[in-house]
Amino acid sequence: MKLRLMTLVCLLTLLGYATAQNDSNADDSNDGKIVVNVMFGNTGSPEIQQEIADAFMQENPDIHIELLEGPEQTDELLALYLQFFETESDEIDVMQLDVIWPGIIGQFMIDMNEYGATEITDQHIPSLINNNTVDGKLVAVPWFTDVGLLYYRTDLLEKYGYDAPPATWDELEDMAKTIQEGEQQDNPDFWGYVWQADAYEGLTVNALELIASHGGGHIVEEDGSVSINNPGALAALERALGWLDVISLPGVLGFNEEASRNFWQAGNAAFMRNWPYAYSLSNDEESLIAGKVGITTIPTTGDAAESGVLGGWGLGVSKFSAHPEAAAKVALYYTSAETQKIRSIKESYTPTITSLYEDPDVLEANTFYDTLQVALENPVARPAAPTAPHYFDVSRLFYSAIYDVLQGTLSPEDALATLEIDITDLLQESGE
Ligand code: GLC
Repeated sequence: MKLRLMTLVCLLTLLGYATAQNDSNADDSNDGKIVVNVMFGNTGSPEIQQEIADAFMQENPDIHIELLEGPEQTDELLALYLQFFETESDEIDVMQLDVIWPGIIGQFMIDMNEYGATEITDQHIPSLINNNTVDGKLVAVPWFTDVGLLYYRTDLLEKYGYDAPPATWDELEDMAKTIQEGEQQDNPDFWGYVWQADAYEGLTVNALELIASHGGGHIVEEDGSVSINNPGALAALERALGWLDVISLPGVLGFNEEASRNFWQAGNAAFMRNWPYAYSLSNDEESLIAGKVGITTIPTTGDAAESGVLGGWGLGVSKFSAHPEAAAKVALYYTSAETQKIRSIKESYTPTITSLYEDPDVLEANTFYDTLQVALENPVARPAAPTAPHYFDVSRLFYSAIYDVLQGTLSPEDALATLEIDITDLLQESGE
């Protein structure tokens, strides 16, 4: 219901926008320029996006970029884009595609290789180009990559006598408890560990990180087998359940990335799970914890070396766009080395262009890139490829069951057994 309402609100806003846009065309305020509509969801700073658009428009005076704000969460943005495809709307030209989407909406995107991308594909991390290629078609040019990271307070680790951040979940739990006990004496709002447990894609990511790090696999494996009902996954869910009201406030059940970041940035947590973008904001002059932020890889258990989930986004062009050439030019500009460098320095978005990892300005602004590169060496992939085009149905089943477990209305054992049956049924039915 929440999703539908959100989508409707966005659609109405957009229709309002479309009317205004037509009116402005009528009075010719775009001076006959080609208008390229770009809809970003989680954009980072709108001011920086606009600066990038302004720089592009200076170089390309025949094109006008109109930036539209879409919903922040991946599920909601996808739902909205799907509505545009359903009506074959040319309202949005440039779209941002989550790494888990190519198998779902690739069919609605133009082949960027036919619009100049062949010249730049070898600059990018090869696995991302691979990920965004569907039946030989490059449906999105990588824009930034993401991997789950553990943020910690350097000052608090020192205050409580720890000389290194936690490497295992057991260590994290011990440190979180001790620091929380101490800090709560002065700050009753303080908790040990914040993460994303609201019922949405972010919970799939967090739960999968935990499960993979317990040797519990990836929900559905690359060969299509449904692996979720196993002892490693059970141990992971029991662990997460044990955090609630102990080291994590019950309110994490309503947290997405931004809610966790705000809580953390207000100085109310010792540890936070988040993506790289939170680094620059945590160190912003308005942040209460600026200069006290450390980053390490997501903890593991002795059972598995993998933990951080791979995320990230690319930019592509709707096949219903009336101006695919101009739109592709815009997408290529936003994903170019020049632009990625700006966003990496100012907003700690992680480049997909390999040479930027040797750029001294990028490295100076992001002192955690050693850790990041370790995390990116062996990231956990969500099962988007083996479940395509039904990944979101699988993910929805998964996070809904985990959410019920965390709320205490379903046992971890029952959740895993039911998930095994439901995901198998879903994939079988859709395969028929
Ligand atoms: C980030 C990731 C994306 C993921 C989403 C989940 O935006 O880049 O891949 O699906 O978070 O909330």
